[in-house]
Amino acid sequence: MRSKLTPAFTVGKLKGMFSIINNIGLEMNQYIRKNLGQQEFKEICAKFSTDVIAKCAFGINSHCFEYEDANFREVGRSIFDFSWRNGIVHSSYFFMHGLAKLLRLNFFEKRAVTYLSDAFCNLFYMSSSFHNKMIVCYFLFLEGEKVVAQAIQFFAAGFETTSTTIAFTLYELCVQPQLQDKLRCEIINNIKENNGITYEALQNMKILEMCIMETLRKYPAVPFLDRRCNEDYKIDGTDIVIEKGMSVFIPTLALHYDPQYFPEPDKYKPERFSDKNNYNVDGLYYLPFGEGPRICIGERFGMLVTKLGLVHILSEFEVERIPDTPVPMEFEPKSLLLQSKVGLPMRVKEYQPISE
Ligand code: HEM
Repeated sequence: MRSKLTPAFTVGKLKGMFSIINNIGLEMNQYIRKNLGQQEFKEICAKFSTDVIAKCAFGINSHCFEYEDANFREVGRSIFDFSWRNGIVHSSYFFMHGLAKLLRLNFFEKRAVTYLSDAFCNLFYMSSSFHNKMIVCYFLFLEGEKVVAQAIQFFAAGFETTSTTIAFTLYELCVQPQLQDKLRCEIINNIKENNGITYEALQNMKILEMCIMETLRKYPAVPFLDRRCNEDYKIDGTDIVIEKGMSVFIPTLALHYDPQYFPEPDKYKPERFSDKNNYNVDGLYYLPFGEGPRICIGERFGMLVTKLGLVHILSEFEVERIPDTPVPMEFEPKSLLLQSKVGLPMRVKEYQPISE
């Protein structure tokens, strides 16, 4: 599946997605403008990324900004929002896989699977290639018996990771208004120079890139990686053997807060990433997208969507801290992906440029 999907993420294909994502960005800004004041940004960003992935990958309009109870968004919530059901099932999948298999636990809630299966089946049915159990959509190419399952996995892997990255960046920027001003300045200057939000304009936004990298350090959407050992391995200089078949968990979140690699780890300092050659020099300790043969396949697409989401919001609005904004941040310990315990409420107002 990886080899089939990899060509979907070439620069050319991403450029092709650009105007679709931009249009959804415009829709997001209209929605924000109608709802100025206190807003839950985790929700706004999730609407954005759900619409983007549904449209770019499957050609489906998920209407998240049009309807508060849009089906795709409801389904997204049921997959990742914390609930006891999700807490127990997701933990079993990772830490007691045998039990999850024995009890035939569904990773996703049944109603989510049913809804997405119907949506994707309809789509495949309409596709001329349906009889080969294959779909070639805007940029997604899936085939085989498990086509619907693959489509669901792909949707789930992409939308929540991207939306939390956008939302946590806005959170840090509302806590540090000077940094927000500096970033907005970079964004607006590049939009002016390039006559709009273009692929080229994004390439020149260095502060934006550094901010996102620092967000991914402080708030890696996937806080740990998992692997299964496939041959006995003795750790050099110790008697420890990782045996074949053993599960191995790599604590990304802990590595990202290790002061040996990231001094003053609790501080949000995008300048850490001013030099791209400055991390993972003597080992792998910055792992927001994982590493090796199972590294995130959507890294470039996720970065593009995150950048565009932020560029749209920050070029037209300011986000401000309010008493409900959680400072310091407290994570929800029972959730699979990294989440704030109380959401990410902020106040949003129209950006008023100081006239020259
Ligand atoms: C900022 C956004 C994103 C982050 C932080 C992120 C992070 C990750 C991480 C940590 C992994 C596990 C890698 C490993 O085990 O080494 C992963 C896997 C994956 N991601 Fe992402 N991801 C993001 C966006 C996306 C998007 C937009 C898509 C698709 C449109 C996507 C599709 C996938 C898939 C299919 C896998 C499984 C790959 C495999 O097991 O071979 N991701 N992602």
